[in-house]
Amino acid sequence: MRLTLGLKLGITYLLLIVLSLAAFAYFTMGFFEQSFLDEKKAALFTHANILANSSMPYLQDQEQWPYLNYLARNQAEKVGSRFLVLDRTGLVIADSATDLRGRALRHREVLNALKGENAAASYQEPEYGWVLYLAVPVYSGKQVTGAVFVSADINPMVARLDEIRARLLWFSAASGALVFVISLFMGTFFTRPIKRLIVAAGRIASGDYGYRIEKAPSHDEIGELTRVFNDMSTKILAEDNIRKRFVADASHELKSPVAAITALLDSYPQKDMCSPGEYQELLKDMRFEADRLKNLVDDLLALSRLEGNRGQLKIEETSVGEIAEAVRKAAEPAARAKGVTIGTTHSGDIYWPLDGEKIFRVLVNLVDNAVKYSPSGEKVTLGFRVKDEMLNFYVVNKGEGIPAVDIPNIFERFYRVDKARSRETGGWGLGLAIVKEIVELHGGDLNVESELGGETVFTFRLPETT
Ligand SMILES: Nc1ncnc2c1ncn2[C@@H]1O[C@H](COP(=O)(O)OP(=O)(O)O)[C@@H](O)[C@H]1O
Ligand SMILES: [Mg+2]
Repeated sequence: MRLTLGLKLGITYLLLIVLSLAAFAYFTMGFFEQSFLDEKKAALFTHANILANSSMPYLQDQEQWPYLNYLARNQAEKVGSRFLVLDRTGLVIADSATDLRGRALRHREVLNALKGENAAASYQEPEYGWVLYLAVPVYSGKQVTGAVFVSADINPMVARLDEIRARLLWFSAASGALVFVISLFMGTFFTRPIKRLIVAAGRIASGDYGYRIEKAPSHDEIGELTRVFNDMSTKILAEDNIRKRFVADASHELKSPVAAITALLDSYPQKDMCSPGEYQELLKDMRFEADRLKNLVDDLLALSRLEGNRGQLKIEETSVGEIAEAVRKAAEPAARAKGVTIGTTHSGDIYWPLDGEKIFRVLVNLVDNAVKYSPSGEKVTLGFRVKDEMLNFYVVNKGEGIPAVDIPNIFERFYRVDKARSRETGGWGLGLAIVKEIVELHGGDLNVESELGGETVFTFRLPETT
């Protein structure tokens, strides 16, 4: 049989109940036995002492012994046990029951009593069952002159204890069984949502992304797990869709420069009579398409590397001023060609823990965009400063701006506001996706404000600890 959760629960509770009831029964029974016996002994000692006191005057005088027999019988009638009076040698001189007069008793209790000590003990005798023997000395002044011996039948008491024990046993067995059944039932009840989770996890494992457990989750930990599971499933589906779309988009985008190059090559044989100028033109066009292709492949590679080693940053205390300067230098040629100037603003240098190479890439992308989307004669500003314990970067340019409806989308892969113009600007819509990925890897956040025909400001902030 499979050891299911329900069964484990059942066995655990069964053991707990049985063990604790057994311990309880053991101690209770011990206590009952002791207190029943003590009570009986105390009562019998009292009666034995009464008989001892009343016997004392008659013990020396053999003539009076029949009267002792009367006293013993009288006491026995009152109490319901057998009373015997013995002389100082242990010889029976009065007996409330079948006559033992004239015989000597050698019980340990008798010997102790003759030495002056009260004594009592219970025994299991083959013919009588359970008996309690008890003896007290009879004193005359300081002298032990005899003893009173009591023999009590304690079989009814033992029987009563046995009955209590049996009842406790039944009670333990019954409650153990009940608890076992209840916990088996509870086990299946508790594991039902877990089974649903197992099924659902199996569905996801076999590719059914987005599979959800429809049954409303309970308000306990398993319910919590179910909720988290559903969220996870939804996210996996979303990720899967993004991935599929990305692959589709990437292949689609890769096709266009390749198709352009093929078309240019196809047109070449008809131009075998072309002039060196036309030939130059062809090579230039092909070079343009090849560069575009290279940019695309570079960006795709950058993105997949960022995803591949998620969280793998080389964080070092880095001079932010140096990075800004390097970015300015890198963007300078393109800016100059376009008649755009790049200025950096910051007050002094700052050292900050960051991955210098990746932040350089972020800034190059932002400044490159700012230059691309600025008309000639404008100025692009790159600045940084520390505010609220965060390192703030901003890249500002003036130009056509980004329409508000597009702002939420510009960080998506392959998203361009004006697809038609991307050929001349040379972008693939991957730059901001890379930017976002890197900033988020640093634990930072990213923001854009844009005014149509006015200023566009990209800002991002990096925390000091990542
Ligand atoms: N400074 C800017 N001014 C206006 N539009 C911008 C600016 N920066 C980015 N954009 C818009 O966001 C889009 C996405 O940018 P990006 O991911 O870098 O792609 P790409 O530069 O390859 O077009 C751009 O196509 C452009 O429409
Ligand atoms: Mg770009």
